[in-house]
Amino acid sequence: MIQVRDISKSFDKLQVLKGIDLSVTPGEIVSIVGPSGAGKTTLLQIIGTLDKPDSGTVDFDGQQPLLMPSRKLAAFRNANIGFVFQFHRLLPEFSLEENVALPALIGGDDRRTAFDKARKLIGYLGLTSRADHRPAELSGGERQRAAVARALVMNPKVILADEPSGSLDSRNKAELHRLFFDLRRDLNQTFIIVTHDENLAADTDRCIKMEDGAITGISTKY
Ligand SMILES: Nc1ncnc2c1ncn2[C@@H]1O[C@H](COP(=O)(O)OP(=O)(O)OP(=O)(O)O)[C@@H](O)[C@H]1O
Ligand SMILES: [Mg+2]
Repeated sequence: MIQVRDISKSFDKLQVLKGIDLSVTPGEIVSIVGPSGAGKTTLLQIIGTLDKPDSGTVDFDGQQPLLMPSRKLAAFRNANIGFVFQFHRLLPEFSLEENVALPALIGGDDRRTAFDKARKLIGYLGLTSRADHRPAELSGGERQRAAVARALVMNPKVILADEPSGSLDSRNKAELHRLFFDLRRDLNQTFIIVTHDENLAADTDRCIKMEDGAITGISTKY
């Protein structure tokens, strides 16, 4: 489904990615681990089409988003890629439900369809009683689950998560990690997750170890 080929990227003279290859199949949960500065976030941003490599290709089911003009690329990203970051990045002036519905509204759904989708996901995540609250009124764990709902609302091919549980305590961490596996079981949702959490990395189907801009190890669960 996703094929990343020979991605290289430099910032000025610093080569941050040195020829990365990675393929991900539907329903797979892949983790990326490695020390700070290894290039994990840079790689995820390139896979997510938020940044461009100096060379190499990113292919989603035969489509090459990095070659698309910017408006088409924005629509492609909205339709196909969900993002979850370390900090929730929900919009503070909107309710949980509005935050979740927003990508669907941007994607062209009418209000009713967008809010129906949002409510369904919020129900799945057990957040219905919190739906009318703004992010500041939610707990850290609730905010990250809301961010997952927002990432899911367009039914994306893949969710890219960059240290999604990095700001959570151990109980909320475990709950969020369980949610990823529930979503794979229930929706065949595909994930690429950058994490410093060894327990999560060990549970994923494939753990990619990066060091100094290169893949230095891959451990497969099965
Ligand atoms: N926009 C940028 N301009 C210049 N250098 C950058 C930029 N973004 C990242 N870098 C550098 O690229 C290298 C890789 O950064 P990246 O954020 O990908 O690392 P990371 O593996 O995600 O680290 P961490 O675990 O700390 O999040 C680092 O040395 C960083 O300072
Ligand atoms: Mg990072």
